[in-house]
Amino acid sequence: MEHTNGRSKFLNRFIQSINGDFTPLVFQKDLDAMANFDDRQFDGSTLETTDVKMYFGGVKALDGASIKVEPGKLTSLIGPNGAGKTTLFNVITGFLKPTAGQVFLEGREITREPIRARSKMGIARTFQKLEAFNTLSTRDNILVAGEKHNTRTETPTKLEVDALMEDVGLAEYSDITVGTLPTGIARRVELARALATHPRILLLDEPSSGLNESETEEMAQLLSKLTKQGLSILLVEHDMSFVMSVSDFIYVLDFGKIIAQDIPEKIQNDPKVRAAYLGAH
Ligand SMILES: Nc1ncnc2c1ncn2[C@@H]1O[C@H](COP(=O)(O)OP(=O)(O)OP(=O)(O)O)[C@@H](O)[C@H]1O
Ligand SMILES: [Mg+2]
Repeated sequence: MEHTNGRSKFLNRFIQSINGDFTPLVFQKDLDAMANFDDRQFDGSTLETTDVKMYFGGVKALDGASIKVEPGKLTSLIGPNGAGKTTLFNVITGFLKPTAGQVFLEGREITREPIRARSKMGIARTFQKLEAFNTLSTRDNILVAGEKHNTRTETPTKLEVDALMEDVGLAEYSDITVGTLPTGIARRVELARALATHPRILLLDEPSSGLNESETEEMAQLLSKLTKQGLSILLVEHDMSFVMSVSDFIYVLDFGKIIAQDIPEKIQNDPKVRAAYLGAH
């Protein structure tokens, strides 16, 4: 019989370690924590933007963008280069204050809240350009992210960081300096850093960028697992097969406006969407 729950996995590892030279002490509370972590559920949030405009001088980066992310769903935001995707992320996370429009988390308006307050409310993000600390190890990057945000619960325990690394496939890289890791692995470190803040909604800006085919497939599986655990995800991504395979719902942005919104099958065959991509800026 295959053991799939956390406790069995942990016990198996423990038994393996007994057969080795070194026998660690294992306490019941550690076993419980591990089991809880494996069975963890996220309390996914609803996020909504209404008619958001962001003007940079004469450039209308966003010109009335309204989207909604449902709890425990993976919603994607696609569109050609320069369409305004990262700008909308910056407005949602508080890096930019919009020229007009509103942002709501769980029905509460957060348009003018500072970045840190939003992070405490459970908004986490990863960046289009990798933003981890290159001189720190994988483990320390995740610890620091959890401590810095110190969100709605206490800072992550060593056990929690270990479980998180195991979960996103980073266990073998735990002591390696992030700056020396291949991009595919560094992207997972970024994801683990975001998860260490106990998010309710996760915003991912091109997580497959720099990943090879099998790493992209692993990332897709990981995101599907997270949404099954209840996390809300907003994904910006250029890899269309990735987007089509993981999304529950898709918004298409072009020149700062939402030109289409639907389920993947409908978006794929929408002539407006095809035209926007063909006429990419
Ligand atoms: N801080 C800024 N100042 C001036 N213009 C900006 C600024 N940030 C973004 N823009 C402009 O706003 C538009 C939207 O940019 P944004 O980065 O949001 O696009 P994107 O959809 O994320 O594109 P990509 O797919 O290439 O990442 C572009 O024309 C960009 O040049
Ligand atoms: Mg972008």
